[in-house]
Amino acid sequence: MTAQDLVLESFELAAESEKDITAGAYERFYARCPAAQDVMSHVDEHMQGRMLEEVLELLMTPEGEVEPGQLAFEVGNHRAYGTSPDHYRPLLEAVRDTVERELGARWNERFEHAWEAKIESLLAQIHAHA
Ligand code: HEM
Repeated sequence: MTAQDLVLESFELAAESEKDITAGAYERFYARCPAAQDVMSHVDEHMQGRMLEEVLELLMTPEGEVEPGQLAFEVGNHRAYGTSPDHYRPLLEAVRDTVERELGARWNERFEHAWEAKIESLLAQIHAHA
C-alpha cells in the first residue's frame, strides 16, 4: 500500500463519522499559525469551505494526477493574498491533526508516516513555486 493509499484510507475512515472537518481544521490552522489567521480575517465561511475543498483534493490526489500548473497557479495567487510560504505547513498539519482526531484509536504509525511523506512532498512543490 502506498503512502497515497494510506492518506486516502484515513480520509475514508474520518468520513464515516459524517462530521464536517472544516471547522476543526481551521481552528487548528489558526492555533498553529496566528499570522495566517490575520491574512484570512476577511475570508467568509463560503470561501474557507472552497479553499479547504481544494486542499483536501490535493491531499487525496496522486501527484502525477494533479493538473499541471495548478499548484504554481495557487501559490502565485496566494502570494498576492498576502500568504507566506511558511503558512502552508501549519495548514496541512492542521488537516492531518483533524483527521487523526477523528480516527481516534484507529490512527496508527502507518498513517502518521504516510501523511508526513505526503505533506513533505506537497511542501517541496509549494516552496519550489514560492
Ligand atoms: C495548498 C494550499 C492551499 C490551497 C489549495 C488553497 C486554495 C484556495 C482557494 C481555492 C481559494 C478560493 C479562491 C476563490 O475561489 O476565489 C483560496 C482563498 C484564499 N486563501 Fe487559500 N489555499 C491554500 C493555502 C492557503 C494558505 C496557507 C493561506 C494563508 C493564510 C491561504 C489564504 C487564502 C486567502 C486569504 C484566501 C482569500 C482570497 C481572497 O480574498 O480572494 N490559503 N485558497
